[in-house]
Parts: sequence; C-alpha cells; structure tokens
Amino acid sequence: VPEDAFIARKPDGVDLATAGAAPLAAIAAMTCIDALDLSEDDVILVVGAPGGVGSFAVQLAARARATVIAPALPEDEDYLRGLGVSDVIAREGDVVAAVRKRHPDGVDALVDLVSYAPGAFDAALKAGARAASTNGAAGEGEGRTNVMAAPSTENLERLGALLADVSLRVPVQGTYDLAQAPEALGALGATHTQGKLAIRVR
Ligand SMILES: NC(=O)c1ccc[n+]([C@@H]2O[C@H](COP(=O)([O-])OP(=O)(O)OC[C@H]3O[C@@H](n4cnc5c(N)ncnc54)[C@H](OP(=O)(O)O)[C@@H]3O)[C@@H](O)[C@H]2O)c1
Repeated sequence: VPEDAFIARKPDGVDLATAGAAPLAAIAAMTCIDALDLSEDDVILVVGAPGGVGSFAVQLAARARATVIAPALPEDEDYLRGLGVSDVIAREGDVVAAVRKRHPDGVDALVDLVSYAPGAFDAALKAGARAASTNGAAGEGEGRTNVMAAPSTENLERLGALLADVSLRVPVQGTYDLAQAPEALGALGATHTQGKLAIRVR
C-alpha cells in the first residue's frame, strides 16, 4: 500500500477485529458529520442509521450534541437509542410527515445513506438546511456535500483516537471466517443488519 495513505497505528487496547471493521464506514460517517458542522441547537435526520456508516454517523452527531432522529424498524429502536438516537421514526411510514409532526419547521441537517438520488427527504428540511450523503443523494449547492471516504493517514489517526478513548463503539453484528465470505456478503444483501459484518483472515 502507499506510505501516505491506508496506514495508521492501531491504538493500544483496541483489538484487531475492531480496528479492521471500522475504517471505511467510520471515515465516511466522520466526513459526513464534519461537513454538517453540527451544534447542540441542531436536529439531524439520519436515514440508514442502523447500518455500517449510520451506526457511526449517529454516534458522532450525538457527540456533537445535536438531537438525532432516525427512521428504522421496531427491532432497531433499542440499538439506536444505545448509540445516542433520541427519536426513532417508523421507517415504513411517511417519514417526512413524521419528522414535520415532531419538528414543524423542519430539521437542520440530513445524512442520507439510503437514497441514490437527491430530494427524497428535502421536504423534511428547514430552508437552508445542510445535507450529506455517501450515495450522491445530497444534491448540489451551499450546504450540500456528497462524500467519498478518504482513508488518509490523518483520517485513520483521527479514527484511532476516537477508538482509543472508547467513545466510539464499533458494533459488529457477526464475524465470519474467510471461507464463509460468500455467506457474509449474502447476509449483507439479504438480511437486516445492525452495524458491521466482519470477515476474519487468519
Ligand atoms: N462514498 C463512500 O465513501 C461510501 C463509504 C461507505 C459506504 N458507502 C455507501 O453508503 C451506503 C451505506 O453503507 P452502509 O455500509 O452503511 O450500508 P448498510 O450497512 O447496508 O446500511 C444501510 C442501512 O439502511 C437501512 N435502510 C434501507 N432502506 C431504508 C429506508 N428506506 N429507511 C431507513 N433505513 C433504510 C438498511 O436496512 P436493511 O438492512 O433492512 O436494508 C441498513 O440498516 C451504501 O450505499 C454504501 O455503498 C459509500
């Protein structure tokens, strides 16, 4: 690998599986949350919160002291509350209407990890709200950021610091041996996951 990217020292006390499962999703989440410049007065909607990127994004938004709301399935509620989400909305219902009912003026920020085109949740946003997406769904213009995770040394070292002080949880729902990699990929596509699935390479 190139010396100027992809490498950082694993913090003492963080096991290899945790260190291995975190970087892509966590750096994508960090980049989204950085772009939104959250403060304690902000309400943020995170769509896709239970997944790999979302599980980090909600923790980082809560660390920034924003109020975090997320559409999800009933079985995700305890999991998401444990990561700092304060309000879980039924994912199958009219999410925009549910957000507007709770926040009539709309929310201040959006992380959309699910849509592949802009606009799906714009009606839930305040005028001038900020949006970030890993799938190009943030749209264009001021405050809109489409993210590509960069595994730079700087980002990896920032992540290492978050993992080292144990303030960022890396939820690994399941770990598979290398020979079971096809099964792991199948599970990612066919089942509802919370956090990450990991493959152990011995
Ligand atoms: N640009 C980048 O650098 C970058 C980096 C990492 C990831 N990504 C992309 O970002 C996206 C998210 O990645 P990920 O690893 O977090 O994926 P993931 O682990 O599959 O998480 C997606 C989550 O969204 C949930 N979801 C699906 N439809 C939903 C809906 N309508 N409302 C609310 N939640 C819904 C999923 O539930 P189910 O399990 O029930 O479907 C799952 O919990 C993917 O498209 C990935 O390719 C991009």
